[in-house]
Amino acid sequence: MNWDAVAGRFTPPARLAVIGDPIAHSRSPQMHNPALRARGIDAQYIRVQVPAGQVAGAFRQFARCGFLGVNITIPHKFEALDAVDVIDPLARQLGAVNTLAVRAGKLHGHNSDGPGFLRSVKEAFGAEVKDLRVLVLGAGGGAGRAVAVQSALEKCPQLVLANRTAEKAQALAGEVAKLSPQTVVRVISWTDEAVSAMLPGVDLIVNATSLGMKSADGRLLPAAVIEARHLIFDMVYRADGETPLIADAKKAGAKVVDGLTLLLHQGAISFEHWFPGPAPLEVLREGLHMAVKM
Ligand SMILES: NC(=O)c1ccc[n+]([C@@H]2O[C@H](COP(=O)([O-])OP(=O)(O)OC[C@H]3O[C@@H](n4cnc5c(N)ncnc54)[C@H](OP(=O)(O)O)[C@@H]3O)[C@@H](O)[C@H]2O)c1
Repeated sequence: MNWDAVAGRFTPPARLAVIGDPIAHSRSPQMHNPALRARGIDAQYIRVQVPAGQVAGAFRQFARCGFLGVNITIPHKFEALDAVDVIDPLARQLGAVNTLAVRAGKLHGHNSDGPGFLRSVKEAFGAEVKDLRVLVLGAGGGAGRAVAVQSALEKCPQLVLANRTAEKAQALAGEVAKLSPQTVVRVISWTDEAVSAMLPGVDLIVNATSLGMKSADGRLLPAAVIEARHLIFDMVYRADGETPLIADAKKAGAKVVDGLTLLLHQGAISFEHWFPGPAPLEVLREGLHMAVKM
């Protein structure tokens, strides 16, 4: 790629980007560009497709071309960890970098999955994770890890982990237990019976699996066991309708939040890594919602 040509093609100049492979689907430019305009920042946010194995080289080129920061999406979050100069302690703990900030020529790597989860819970439920008994369904992938680590760092009273591949949940439980002696950490098996039996003793139920992305996906848990007092966080988001979990939870009278709110707060956190002060959240929200409707 001719980086100088790419950097010089845009007005306002390209100074922020999201990288992934594929990347055409990303709505981050529609979320961030109105916020840049609202703040009077002479910069544009673009999408750049970067193949696996080329993240470190791409980061150096972004820095050379005057970029301020980059968001990193599938499949580069893990490769990005080894491609930065300075790793934020939380990103190191989560084992992945999804936000790059270029400061004085140095590449700083951050992870917004955990902090975005906390902000989403606060906004959607008016609750703090430190006060909630949390169940993580899908405690085997990057998202489940972020939720479990962040919940333990918040010292939530109880953390229950379930994953299709049980060994991954067991390994994660060992790690998170060390972060918070106050938190009772349990692993349960990936069966309807085990999950259903656990639900009366939890407040916040998080879907961190990829189940629910496709309309053919089955139910994550039996609809009848969801109670009106439960707080349901589905990290999955579908532009073409609700996930089965969100639909079941609404029928049960439970409060819900989905992956779109998480995406919004992750965007705000990135913005705050790049520019001083609080991000213009409502401008980001409107941009994201408009992009999703298109
Ligand atoms: N909205 C946002 O901003 C945001 C941010 C992060 C993630 N997410 C979403 O969160 C989800 C997970 O992301 P990730 O990065 O953690 O993915 P990942 O690393 O690939 O992990 C996938 C997880 O889903 C489980 N899983 C996959 N298929 C399953 C099935 N058929 N039955 C039961 N469990 C299944 C896996 O279990 P095994 O370990 O057994 O394979 C694993 O725990 C994705 O849908 C992603 O889009 C959203």
